[in-house]
Amino acid sequence: MDAGPQTHDSFADALKPGTELLHGQFRIEKFLNAGGFGMTYLARDSLDRIVVIKECFPSSMCCRNDGNVMARSKQHQAEFDAVVKHFGAEARRLSKLQHSNIVGIHQVFEDNLTAYMALDFVRGRDLLDTIEDPKMKLHPRDVKGILLKCLEAIHYIHTNDVLHRDISPDNILIDGKGNPVLIDFGAAKEEATRASRALSALHVVKDGYSPHEFYIAGSTQDASSDLYSLGATFYHVLTGEAPPDSQARVSAIAADRPDPYKPVTGHFPQFEDAFLHAIDKALSVFPPDRLQTAREWIELVDTERRRSAALAQAELDRQIELSISRLVKETNQAVEADIKAQQNKQVAERKEAQRLQKLVQEQQRQRKKTLDELAMLNDFEFEEEQKIARELSAQRSAQRAHDKVNGVEPKKKRTLLSRMLPFGILRGTIRGNRRSDYM
Ligand SMILES: Nc1ncnc2c1ncn2[C@@H]1O[C@H](COP(=O)(O)OP(=O)(O)OP(=O)(O)O)[C@@H](O)[C@H]1O
Ligand SMILES: [Mg+2]
Repeated sequence: MDAGPQTHDSFADALKPGTELLHGQFRIEKFLNAGGFGMTYLARDSLDRIVVIKECFPSSMCCRNDGNVMARSKQHQAEFDAVVKHFGAEARRLSKLQHSNIVGIHQVFEDNLTAYMALDFVRGRDLLDTIEDPKMKLHPRDVKGILLKCLEAIHYIHTNDVLHRDISPDNILIDGKGNPVLIDFGAAKEEATRASRALSALHVVKDGYSPHEFYIAGSTQDASSDLYSLGATFYHVLTGEAPPDSQARVSAIAADRPDPYKPVTGHFPQFEDAFLHAIDKALSVFPPDRLQTAREWIELVDTERRRSAALAQAELDRQIELSISRLVKETNQAVEADIKAQQNKQVAERKEAQRLQKLVQEQQRQRKKTLDELAMLNDFEFEEEQKIARELSAQRSAQRAHDKVNGVEPKKKRTLLSRMLPFGILRGTIRGNRRSDYM
C-alpha cells in the first residue's frame, strides 16, 4: 500500500523525540515515515537497543490531542476503535512468525489510546533505494540470492496461513550482509480496511505491484497473489521500473488489445532462462496461469538446490532400498529359523515316537518271554503230575492185583463224577487264573 503523500499534518501529528511509551519502556528518537495507516519511528527500548515502533494512526479518521490519538469526530469513533483493535490483533498474529528474512516483532502494546508494535531494527536500506542508486550495481548472483531468500520467507509465511499483501521493493530491507528482510505486512491494513469504510477507500494496493484481485473488494487472494507482487518487484530490479499496473493489463486483454506487459525472458542474457521465465510466469494476469507456490518458484530457479534435492532424493531412495533389503534379509532369516526349529521339533518328535515304539515292543517281548517261561514251567509241572498220577495208578493196579491174589476185598468204587472228570480239566479249573490265557 502506498503510504500516501506525507502531509504537513502527518509530521505535526508525529510523536516528538524523547516521548516515552509503555511507562518508559520505549523512548522515541526519530520520526521515520507516515502512511495512511500509521506512523513509523526509530526508538530505544529499556535496554537502550534501537528498535522501530509502528503506531496505529489512520490519519483520515484520527488526530493527536495531548499525546493521545483520538477519532476526528464522533462519527469516526466506532471505525477508529475497530481499526485499532484489528491492528493489535493482526500484529499479535504476525508476532508469532519467526524467520531470519522476516522482521521480528518483539512487542505489541497499547498506549495513547491506540495500538503499537515494536520491531527489530534492520540496519541497511530498502531494495528500492538500492536499485535506484546508480552507484549500487547488484550482481546477477546477488539478485538471485535475494530472490531465493525472499521466496524462503514467503514460503514460510504461506505455510503459516499468512499472506503479506504488500510486497514491493520499498518493503524489502537489505541488511548489512546483503540479506533481505520483509517488512510492512499489509495483512494488518487489509484487516483494518474491512473495519472501516473510510479506509477501504484507500485500498491496500500499490500500482504495478498489486495483482488485479487486490483491486476487487472481497476477492479471493492466495499465495499466487503475493508471488505476483514478488514477480513485479524483481521485474523492477531487472528493468528499472515496475511492470504496467494489473488493472491496465486486464482492461487491455478484455478489450482484445495486446497485454502491455513486456516479458523479461530472452532480454537479460546475464540471467538464466529459467530465472527470467519464472518472473514472467509469476506475473501472469490470471491466477491459474501463475506460479502457485514459493516452493515451485524456488525449484525452478535454484539449480544448485535442484541438484542437491535430486541427490538427497537419490540418497533417500538408496537408504530406502537398503532398509528394504535388510528387512527382507531379516525376515528370511527369521523364516529360516522358524523352519529349522519346526524341523528340529519334528525330528525330536519322531525320535520320541520311535523310542516309545521300541519300549512297547520291548515290553511285549518281555511279556511274551515271561508267559513262555511260565508256560514251560507249567508243562513241566503237568508232566510231573502225570508221572506221579501214572505211578499212583500203577501202584493202585499193583495193590489191586496183590489184593486179589490175597483175597482182599477191593475198596468201594469212586463216584461216577470223580471218575469221569479228567484230571487235567479239574486241574485247569483250579488253576484257571494262571493258565487259561494260553491253554
Ligand atoms: N524494521 C525496520 N528496520 C529499519 N527500518 C525500518 C523498519 N521498518 C520500517 N523501516 C523504515 O521505515 C520506512 C517506513 O516503514 P514501513 O514500510 O513499515 O511503513 P510505510 O510503508 O511508510 O507505512 P504504511 O505502513 O502506512 O504502509 C521504511 O521504508 C524503512 O525505511
Ligand atoms: Mg512500507
